[in-house]
Amino acid sequence: MSILEVKDLSIQFGGLKAVDHFNLSVDHNELVGLIGPNGAGKTTIFNLLTGVYTPTEGSIYLNDVSTIGKRPSDIVLLGSSRTFQNIRLFKNMTVLDNIKVAYHNRMDYNFVSSIFKTKKYKIEEARANEIAKELLEVFDLLEFKDHLAKNLPYGKQRKLEIARALATNPQILLLDEPAAGMNPQETEELMATIKLIKNQFNVSILLIEHDMKLVMGICERIVVIDYGKIIAKGNPKEIRTNKDVIKAYLGE
Ligand SMILES: Nc1ncnc2c1ncn2[C@@H]1O[C@H](COP(=O)(O)OP(=O)(O)OP(=O)(O)O)[C@@H](O)[C@H]1O
Ligand SMILES: [Mg+2]
Repeated sequence: MSILEVKDLSIQFGGLKAVDHFNLSVDHNELVGLIGPNGAGKTTIFNLLTGVYTPTEGSIYLNDVSTIGKRPSDIVLLGSSRTFQNIRLFKNMTVLDNIKVAYHNRMDYNFVSSIFKTKKYKIEEARANEIAKELLEVFDLLEFKDHLAKNLPYGKQRKLEIARALATNPQILLLDEPAAGMNPQETEELMATIKLIKNQFNVSILLIEHDMKLVMGICERIVVIDYGKIIAKGNPKEIRTNKDVIKAYLGE
């Protein structure tokens, strides 16, 4: 069964068709790459998928539920979670609290019970701590749990952002250039982390990335866009040798 089903998705900014009849279907536990030159429309697709933008045309179904017109926070509850091209952590919060904030989104208690610290609140709070620590453990970040997010090295901040996205228990994880700004060793580590996430958390992943070694190394299937339109689809081997893709990346 497909987790994500996108049909004829389009958005226009003034005279620019940033995304033009984009189609995509992502199955359970699949790892799909979304690549294309700068300005091709990749991040805009994520913004459409997460409800930041409303499409001018087309449909998006998450687990058979249409997300069109829904708020980003409601789309998270439907099972999709993302990271951003530029890191967006709560810099002055601890590593642990960054995860807990995300987890709170789906916690089963309200504002009133959090003020009066009801029994239910305490149980949920203990559970949040537990889950957050488990996530940090998986990402080798537990020893940094009390550090401020801003004091982590860059590669670890990126990891924390992914861990935080997983705290909402998504069925599909959207990663926007997770390797951007990483050194080769950090990228290597990230590659292992993404593989681990897919297996351990049983999620589908849609990955935007410019690092071709990473994309070709882990994606099962790749979709290539240019000027908002799909120009190629296939497995890494097919994409690497596709002449439209080579042309889009290298120019004429
Ligand atoms: N809110 C907006 N208003 C107007 N134009 C926009 C808006 N958002 C994106 N665009 C334009 O849409 C096009 C696609 O941008 P997008 O950020 O999706 O590209 P991208 O594929 O993510 O590129 P990169 O690899 O550089 O991150 C660009 O021409 C961009 O300037
Ligand atoms: Mg982008």
